[in-house]
Amino acid sequence: MENFVMFNPVKLHFGKGVTDKIGNITSEYGKKVLLVTGQGSAKASGAWDQVMARLKEAELDVTEFSGIKSNPIIEDVDKAAAKAREINADVIVALGGGSVIDSAKIISLAAKYDGPAWDIVVDKHKPTEAIPLIAVLTLAATGTEMNPAAVVQNNCLQAKKGYGNKLIYPKHSFLDPSFTLTVSRDYTAYGIVDLIAHSLEAWFGHGEASLTDRFTAAVIREAMKHGPELLSDLNNYDLRARIMFAATCALNGMTVYGKKHQDWGVHTIGHCLSVLYDVPHGASLSIAYPAWLKLQKERIPKRIQELGNVLFETNSVDDTIHKTEYLFKGLGSPVSLKEAGIDISDEPAKEKLKKVMMKNKVSGLVHKLDEKDYDKLLELME
Ligand code: NZQ
Ligand code: ZN
Repeated sequence: MENFVMFNPVKLHFGKGVTDKIGNITSEYGKKVLLVTGQGSAKASGAWDQVMARLKEAELDVTEFSGIKSNPIIEDVDKAAAKAREINADVIVALGGGSVIDSAKIISLAAKYDGPAWDIVVDKHKPTEAIPLIAVLTLAATGTEMNPAAVVQNNCLQAKKGYGNKLIYPKHSFLDPSFTLTVSRDYTAYGIVDLIAHSLEAWFGHGEASLTDRFTAAVIREAMKHGPELLSDLNNYDLRARIMFAATCALNGMTVYGKKHQDWGVHTIGHCLSVLYDVPHGASLSIAYPAWLKLQKERIPKRIQELGNVLFETNSVDDTIHKTEYLFKGLGSPVSLKEAGIDISDEPAKEKLKKVMMKNKVSGLVHKLDEKDYDKLLELME
């Protein structure tokens, strides 16, 4: 077991009606609020009305920056950071899915910096302060509500990059599962895939920690049981709640205590699919994971077999890979590029994707990938 520090400063409010307290809590950080939102779903779900009413009740001065897109882009982060500076924001409230909350995390740092936000993402500028951030999550998937990470895309550089900094832990996160009742079937499935993928990144991470492994497997099993149930009963509050909690637990530190770190190789592949084809994050992972497992099956058979053992009661490596693929397929998420409507059958299309993989230095922290692996992965994902 590796040494570790168990630390998570996010105060997480979970359950029906939890945003009732958001006005008073937000006012503890000041009067001027920058509200960051996406492309309209917050209004459609009723979350916007509820949160706005509480912020107004607390007599807060709210300015909204809306329009953050899924697979968020750095240009929007720069624009929103300029807005935060212009209004001299005391606190940021992010209302949306992972894209909105991740953007708000970088905005909270970029607002305190004169240069481009991308400098922060690539560690060219090392921030020392951030505007306090409060998150209201409307989509169960990323775990961003309880972690210090953010992922943004730079389309000019064809890059999608993860960034971590303790300064961007939300001060408070509000998780009302009823806000997720309007999430479409597709995005519900992508969210379930994402939480499974985060658990798998931990499973294939560095180090041995048996209790943490058991916890990780329990999170995946929760998704295997309640994911399909939810997909056939999208208005079920209790199932929404179970999946929302599982998604938080998949990436809030619990799956890595006693291990050094997750692998993240599959996520780096998925990010390339988002950059090039704007594939939704979860869908990119259901395409990349089966291919990655097939690539790794002779390199790490024991670890794959152990996974099969705890999830599918099988000792066969091939069966484990097949069942993982089938799990994603059963959720309705694509398991090949073709299923996502992307054709890379000709050489130029393959070369294009390979170039983006090289630019983004696709590799895991534990299981390193090289150019030859990229060729194999392209074949396996096709
Ligand atoms: O833009 P709006 O109108 O809000 O619509 C969104 C978007 O179209 C919609 N949506 C959100 N809440 C809804 C809803 N629709 C109906 N009802 C609701 N209640 O869903 C669509 C997808 O939203 P998005 O925020 O993009 O999805 P997700 O939460 O999956 O976030 C994906 C982003 O998070 C990053 C991904 O790379 C991707 O950019 N990740 C962040 C991580 C982190 N910070 O720790 C880890 C993850 O691995 C992931 O990489
Ligand atoms: Zn993810």
